[in-house]
Formats: sequence, structure tokens, C-alpha cells
Amino acid sequence: RIAYVNGRYVPHRTASVHVEDRGYQFSDGVYEVCEVRGGHLVDARRHLDRLERSLSELRIALPMGRAALAAVLREVVARNGVKDGIVYLQVTRGVARRDHAFPAPGTAPSLVVTARRADMAAQERLAEQGVRVICVPENRWPRVDIKTVGLLPNVLAKQQAKEAGAREAWFVDASGHVTEGSSTNAWIVTGDGRIVTRPAENGILKGITRAVVLDAAKALGLVIVERAFTPQEAYGAREAFITAASTLVMPVVEIDGHTIADGRPGPVARDLRHRFHTFAE
Ligand code: PDD
Repeated sequence: RIAYVNGRYVPHRTASVHVEDRGYQFSDGVYEVCEVRGGHLVDARRHLDRLERSLSELRIALPMGRAALAAVLREVVARNGVKDGIVYLQVTRGVARRDHAFPAPGTAPSLVVTARRADMAAQERLAEQGVRVICVPENRWPRVDIKTVGLLPNVLAKQQAKEAGAREAWFVDASGHVTEGSSTNAWIVTGDGRIVTRPAENGILKGITRAVVLDAAKALGLVIVERAFTPQEAYGAREAFITAASTLVMPVVEIDGHTIADGRPGPVARDLRHRFHTFAE
């Protein structure tokens, strides 16, 4: 395997950044995960748009032009022979003597890109079964709209889910509403067939998969309501599912031990999963 690190394509096994990288010391950086399908980057434009936004919120410069960055992503995918999988990109504020305040202007941001294959057959089997979710109290900072590498609450929540035999943890805010999963956006389908997901204004990362699913649902004439929902509403929903570039549309069949409908993936989630790539770029 090959990784890209600050201008070089290097063996993945020994790819490294300096110990004083601010990503390592302060989580002072951002990332993107983009799906690769048939060797092609899915929705790269939207991922790069979001990367630029995350970077500008942290006042980190884009390390190279967009076209050059897209070329690096494609090159890493090609050099690793990834047909179906993901490409990971991380930009940090760079290497400097440890000091919380920004380093001197001119300090180069660090750019790392890796790619890896996904076991699509295993993912399809999982999607046919559906996954379990648990709910945990929201304990993240308010700027979860920025895709930062500071993911400690997400890591702890995911581990808690794993130890409970679940695939994902949904954060629940102080008002009792689900925000999103530790690495996914959260959705339900109500008894009258409406698709419900939290608006992207606050409390969630504006998922690219979420945006594509909203487009798809509209095109298919489904009714979408962007509003927050509670775990209790989700327990009684007709369907539930999660979305992310790494899992696409993944049906949820159990939340906090409550079986959703008949305990099998619902038709809306299955249909959106199957049609996803006809609406993606
Ligand atoms: N996670 N919410 C959170 C907190 C996420 O970390 C992610 C993505 C999403 C979904 O966004 P998108 O549809 O753009 O992938 C929502 C990536 C896949 C990860 O951390 O691995």
C-alpha cells in the first residue's frame, strides 16, 4: 500500500508525520472520507467543498489547489488499486514547536492521503440484516459542523456501542432529541411514510451522503421532513437508517433494545441504498 504524505508517495507501512504535528498534539486539523466506487471518487466535488469550509472555519489554508488535490486523491486510489473502498484525506495546521496559538505564518499545513478497499460483499450482507444502534448523551463541542479530527467523544461512543453489540451510537442532546451518529447521520421513516432527519443547521455534520439521499428522496417523490426526532419516536418508527460515505444507506433494525417494526430492513432504506449511486456524482 502507498500513502501520500506532504508531497511524496511513500510505503504505507512507514508513512509518518513529525511528532510535533499539530494534528497529533491538538487535533488541530480536519479530514474527509470519500467513497470510491469502480475506481471513481463519489461526490468528490461536495467533499472538497466541505473540506474547504472546514479549513476556512479553522483558518487553515488549502494546502494546494482543488484540481491538484483531486489529482492526489485519484493517484492514491490508483496506486493502491482500490476499486471499491474509501479515500481518506487529512489536513492539519502543520509542524511547529508546541504552543496553543497558531504557528508563524508560512508554516506549511500537513496533508496526508490514504486509501483502502472495502469488503463490499460483507457490507451488503450487513445491509440485508440491518444494524443495532444505542443512544448516548451528546457530549461534543457545539461546532460539530466542522469535520475536525478531534473525535474523542465519537470514539468513546462508538466503543460503547460496540461493547453493547451495536454498530452505531446516536447522540441525544439536552432537549432529548437525536443529533446524529458517532460517524453517521440519523434517519427515521414515520408511520405515515415521511422521511425524517435533523436539519443541518445545528448539532450535526452536514453529511454528503445525507445530501444525496435528500436529492434521491425528492426525485422519487417521497415526503421529507427536516426536523429533530427523539429516541422514543424512533423506537416506534416504521423504519430507521444511518448514512455515511463509508456505509452509504445502512438500515437500522434495533435501537436501545427496541425492535424497529418487524426487525428487518425497511423498503425505503433498501430502495434508497440500491438507487444511491444513480443520484451520486
Ligand atoms: N464520518 N456525522 C458524523 C459525525 C460523521 O463523522 C460522518 C462521516 C457523517 C456522515 O457524513 P458523510 O455522509 O459526508 O460521510 C455524519 C466518516 C465517514 C468517518 O468519520 O469515517
